Amino acid sequence: MSERMDEQRLPSRRGFLGTGAAASLAAGLMVHSSRAVAAETSELKLGIVGCGGRGTGAVDDSLSINQNVKVVAAADLYPTKCDSLRQTLGPKHEGKVALEDAKIHGGLDGYKRVLEDPDVDVVLLTTSPGFRPRMILEAVEAGKHVFAEKPSCVDPAGYRICLEAHDKAVAKGTGIVTGTQYRRQANYIGAVDEIRKGTIGEIVSGTTRYCAGGIWYRPRKEGMSDAEYQMNNWMHFIWLSGDQIAEQAVHNIDTINWVMGGNPVSAYGSGGRFTRPEDSEMWDNVVVDYEYPGGKIISFMCRQIPGTAGANGSVIEGTEGTCFIEAINGGSRIVDRKGKEVWKMGGSISQAYQQEHKDLVDSIRAGKPIVELKQTADSSLVAVLGRVAAYTGQKVGFEFLAKESKLDLFPKDLAWESSLPKPEFAIPGRTKLV
Ligand SMILES: NC(=O)c1ccc[n+]([C@@H]2O[C@H](COP(=O)([O-])OP(=O)(O)OC[C@H]3O[C@@H](n4cnc5c(N)ncnc54)[C@H](O)[C@@H]3O)[C@@H](O)[C@H]2O)c1
Repeated sequence: MSERMDEQRLPSRRGFLGTGAAASLAAGLMVHSSRAVAAETSELKLGIVGCGGRGTGAVDDSLSINQNVKVVAAADLYPTKCDSLRQTLGPKHEGKVALEDAKIHGGLDGYKRVLEDPDVDVVLLTTSPGFRPRMILEAVEAGKHVFAEKPSCVDPAGYRICLEAHDKAVAKGTGIVTGTQYRRQANYIGAVDEIRKGTIGEIVSGTTRYCAGGIWYRPRKEGMSDAEYQMNNWMHFIWLSGDQIAEQAVHNIDTINWVMGGNPVSAYGSGGRFTRPEDSEMWDNVVVDYEYPGGKIISFMCRQIPGTAGANGSVIEGTEGTCFIEAINGGSRIVDRKGKEVWKMGGSISQAYQQEHKDLVDSIRAGKPIVELKQTADSSLVAVLGRVAAYTGQKVGFEFLAKESKLDLFPKDLAWESSLPKPEFAIPGRTKLV
């Protein structure tokens, strides 16, 4: 199976979104900082945790778009990955990749060395998703500004940790920007603005899809414990990835939550698996009807099956027209009820990937760090809601999941040599709602 192709390309060096769009986006998210206000040109030092594809891409994005920023510390389960990041980005960003050997940390506790490093101002958290909530909370408690990739959480226990981290960051005056780059992409911002202006009338319903080919699988190597194998082959274990609906399609769910202005009331879903490797817990496809307030149904579908037709975007139906929002670089457009195009806008994902790092750094330097974790934790829990509804075969309420569910997938006392329960995939009607 091929590595992910559509998402984790290293973005090119390019310009960025107009400041007007970014400013209007950030305005509602800023909080006043009690942390020392950094001068506009002061140096900011990055620490990176998780030096794989996106970690390398995120550091590249930040170093490309921001002035006077350098990366000074790195952690990964495997220190060789930190070295690869240094080798890849060093020549491109002369003088900005200041990673001494002593500032490269491996193993499960390596991230703690980055968080306790007084030289680090901003920490980029780009490991597999399962670790994210606890790492964000610890980073906030250590007084660091945070960039955290999506999804923010893969279960309700992680969601509640994110809410705690969000509130603590607001109280401390430290920033948290998340890797939901479409919130900073011109054609998405434009489409949401048009919908808010009433160009499609009142929203009636919608459809969103993330259908792709296969995803990577990293086979077990001799001598690997259960824990090491699962952490390395993380996509296939739900405690680490949350399944495709959370790991990948959270982008679409986040778009829908943005358009609808909040979380759905409930989810009803189905799906299954036919082509995954034997020990993978992932399903091949999930379909969900999300019911938003007012009985408005958003129909969701995600799929990863090699050889199938791809689709990645959202369609919002209104009383006066239809808005199409295409992912990656596909642009957005609106047609009226007769099918006549009345609006369209292009957008670049590589610009959006960089813009999130510019917004974070600008907000820190302005003394008003953005804290947007709750928004992305909500979208991540909506993804979990769809997964839980499909896995159990039940109609599940958002409030139940947010406040009552006992689902906590993170292994207790996780260690490098841990034995973990035999992987198993969900079966509707048998898998319990907890
Ligand atoms: N925003 C986007 O469009 C986008 C695109 C790709 C990936 N992502 C997200 O970025 C994250 C990473 O994805 P990736 O494709 O880079 O995966 P990857 O496997 O290439 O990289 C993850 C890295 O994290 C390391 N790691 C795992 N657990 C760790 C821990 N506890 N401590 C330290 N290091 C740890 C791994 O060894 C690996 O090097 C995922 O959450 C993914 O969903 C987002």
